[in-house]
Amino acid sequence: MSANENPLSSAQPGRKIIVAIDGPAGAGKSTIARHLARHFGLLNLETGAMYRAFALKALRMELPLDKSEGLASLATETDIRLEPGEDENRVLLDGEDVTGLIRNQMVTDAASRVSIFPAIRARMVSLQQQLGSGGGVVMEGRDIGTVVFPHAEVKIFLDAAPEVRGLRRFDQLGPAPAVQPEEVIRDLRARDERDRNRADSPLKPAADAVLLDSTSMTLEETVAAAEAIVAAKLDRLDPRSRSGKCC
Ligand code: DC
Repeated sequence: MSANENPLSSAQPGRKIIVAIDGPAGAGKSTIARHLARHFGLLNLETGAMYRAFALKALRMELPLDKSEGLASLATETDIRLEPGEDENRVLLDGEDVTGLIRNQMVTDAASRVSIFPAIRARMVSLQQQLGSGGGVVMEGRDIGTVVFPHAEVKIFLDAAPEVRGLRRFDQLGPAPAVQPEEVIRDLRARDERDRNRADSPLKPAADAVLLDSTSMTLEETVAAAEAIVAAKLDRLDPRSRSGKCC
């Protein structure tokens, strides 16, 4: 099948479509990305997991998280891969499967800290560009539409009020969480602050992103809205793709 006959072809011949999903922590990017990937037959790549894996390595080596130099040289000799799976990505740190080790609070906080440094970002962006170079992906993060793939065919900026994001996160913690909802909201605000105000690639919508604010939407409504955004774009690229799931 040639690029032109392929319903998920991008505007660029020979490459399949890239869907970029950016937004703050807890906005539901992973859930929406997973749904879109399934619905449109794309691979789902979660870039936050790469910053988390790098942070895990820095923690294990007991490097100071506020000093760029040591982290920068560590980054050049670190390989991080994502392997798309049914529900989540398998995350390989220098070949070791660390998927189950990167979601705790210590790594979450460390990932937020190390991701402000340009040298770390440059390394992660380069790895992400390699992973997505063939297209056919939904890639989610903070800077996908602005820096990693500025030419992505579809860009969605998913947002929600901090209180709503915090309460959704709190609800996911299970029946007897060790923290109060206020702490979860406070932590989200601190991460927002770092993401939005760092000098290098701050979190912001790309000029051509579609803004999707899920503050007063259910998950089903948000999924439907995101699907409609991608479908409309596919339709503009190739009207034959309207009902088509493919490749
Ligand atoms: O999406 P997440 O919570 O797993 O991301 C972990 C951290 O990585 C987050 O604090 C911000 C950072 N990050 C980033 O700076 N750029 C990305 N593309 C993805 C994540």
